[in-house]
Amino acid sequence: MRRKLVAGNWKMHGSLAENKALLAGVLAGMGDVKAGVAVCVPFPYLSQAQAGLTGSAVAWGAQNMSQHAKGAYTGEVSASMLKDFGCTYVIVGHSERRALYGESDAVVAEKFAAAQAAGLTPILCVGETLEERESGVTEQVVGRQLDVVIAKCGVAALARAVVAYEPVWAIGTGKTATPEQAQTVHAFIRGRVRALDAAVASGLVIQYGGSMKASNAVELLSQPDIDGGLIGGASLNAEEFLAICRAG
Ligand code: PGA
Repeated sequence: MRRKLVAGNWKMHGSLAENKALLAGVLAGMGDVKAGVAVCVPFPYLSQAQAGLTGSAVAWGAQNMSQHAKGAYTGEVSASMLKDFGCTYVIVGHSERRALYGESDAVVAEKFAAAQAAGLTPILCVGETLEERESGVTEQVVGRQLDVVIAKCGVAALARAVVAYEPVWAIGTGKTATPEQAQTVHAFIRGRVRALDAAVASGLVIQYGGSMKASNAVELLSQPDIDGGLIGGASLNAEEFLAICRAG
């Protein structure tokens, strides 16, 4: 049985004071949560997450990293730096990174490999735009995004990773994919992996992301191939986030 994983993606939100209250609120409500829980915070707050969450049931991680191990890359942060701050997870290939910062499939695959080389668990984001969905190429796009990582790292690498299916048109828009729409793509992703390695496919945690909230989490998370959520906006409110965690 796969254990569900609910991860918050705070994006570029928060402050020391706000994070303190948010983390305290989440920790206070973890008693009846069965799912794995993590928060992916902005780089400057990793030490705050480490200080506040060490020894708790909540793991933490980052939202991006460099594909390079070290060197003259001004402004970049390496995987080993994230390890220094106790990160378990790092999001790679979020659609905002792909669209706003020009991250190609190849760069995302390099980041995925660098994360694993440092002992981090990458959360690999894949997903189609509205235009791609409407022109019927969702599976081609998601398949390609996945295949580039598999080609570089091998299918076995997915045993130490999480995949997040995030339809771009559902992110931050309030437009959630229906449970059926999401399940169809999740089943497609698992099937693609199963064709290469059945054991890896059955153990692979595939999160859904895109306007997931307390009111739609139960339905989404009850789909057979939806193993958790990557939560943006709703992860900034402790009660809302906890309600999603409890649905998992
Ligand atoms: P959202 O973001 O929950 O605010 O739609 C999800 C994400 O981008 O990971």
